[in-house]
Amino acid sequence: GLPKAGVKALLDNGLTHIPDRYIKPIDKRAVADEVLCGDGIPVIDMAEFFHNRKAVVDAICDASREWGIFQIINHGVPTSVINGMVEGVLEFFELPIEEKMVYYSEDVFTPVRYCTSMTPSKETHMEWHDHLQHYFPHGEKNHPWPHKPAFYKSTTEKYVNSVSSVAKCLKSALSEGLGLDPDHLERAFGKHEMILRSNYYPPCPNPELALGMNGHSDSGGLTILFEDQVGGLQAKKGDRWYALKPIRNAFIVNIADQIEILSNGKYKSVEHRVTVNSKRLRLSIAAFCSPSSEALIGPIPELLDEQHPPLYKTTLYREHITNVYTKYLDGKHSKNLEK
Ligand code: SIN
Ligand code: FE2
Repeated sequence: GLPKAGVKALLDNGLTHIPDRYIKPIDKRAVADEVLCGDGIPVIDMAEFFHNRKAVVDAICDASREWGIFQIINHGVPTSVINGMVEGVLEFFELPIEEKMVYYSEDVFTPVRYCTSMTPSKETHMEWHDHLQHYFPHGEKNHPWPHKPAFYKSTTEKYVNSVSSVAKCLKSALSEGLGLDPDHLERAFGKHEMILRSNYYPPCPNPELALGMNGHSDSGGLTILFEDQVGGLQAKKGDRWYALKPIRNAFIVNIADQIEILSNGKYKSVEHRVTVNSKRLRLSIAAFCSPSSEALIGPIPELLDEQHPPLYKTTLYREHITNVYTKYLDGKHSKNLEK
């Protein structure tokens, strides 16, 4: 099969062994015995956010310093909104390949992008997933929504609005944790943008040889991630990998590079990867809540003094994300911006 058409297309054509381009070099494979249990990754109850704000803010900030990843429950996004989004995404992926390929693009700033792995025409090693990605510039009114499934636009708009509110709460908590006013990060993001990316990981005939997604940190500000109950996401702390346990209707929050940089390293963007399995399809939906692509991002001046010099360069966010998508940076991308 054509590599660009993606992994679902390969399976639909009766593939029984993965093609060589999906086989990871030995040092990049996820060895199950070496992965630790992720039960220590914090689970934070957001129900208390509006009543017992200090305790929740502290929990969010501690988790962002220690792990860079945590799960949130009682986040206020209705189950019906999540289910509607999931249903729309699944129906999209079940469309005939020709209908999906209409949206094929390798450019991260394309409004609607169907793709597989990261940049198939340039990669030598590919990731075992297909994805549908939307780029929402600030205040965009005329998004070219896919026409199928018919309900996709309305369920996705509801989902995007809901997770945006959650992101706003988290940004205010993270601002307070830096001793700043609650709107500080929101302002630093400027005309904030979102990339919404739904990842479809079909069963893989040789799961131990492949990865659903290579180890990486997210390049935006913070990511609100939904995953189904299949499991496969792992997060790195120190030099060990930890497997996350799916929690129904929870969201996973990843601190991403731009918040690490703005906080001058106080909050940590988390390196994470996705393993695959031979039995079950896995679906995840990542909402990357990012600064304006035209924003200059660097350590927040209020956090700096003689004892606390800036640890990162100040760069245009657009440049950082373009590098991530075209240069195959390995591992944690914020490393490339360290001084
Ligand atoms: C991602 O890192 O963008 C996706 C993670 C996942 O599928 O759980
Ligand atoms: Fe990610």
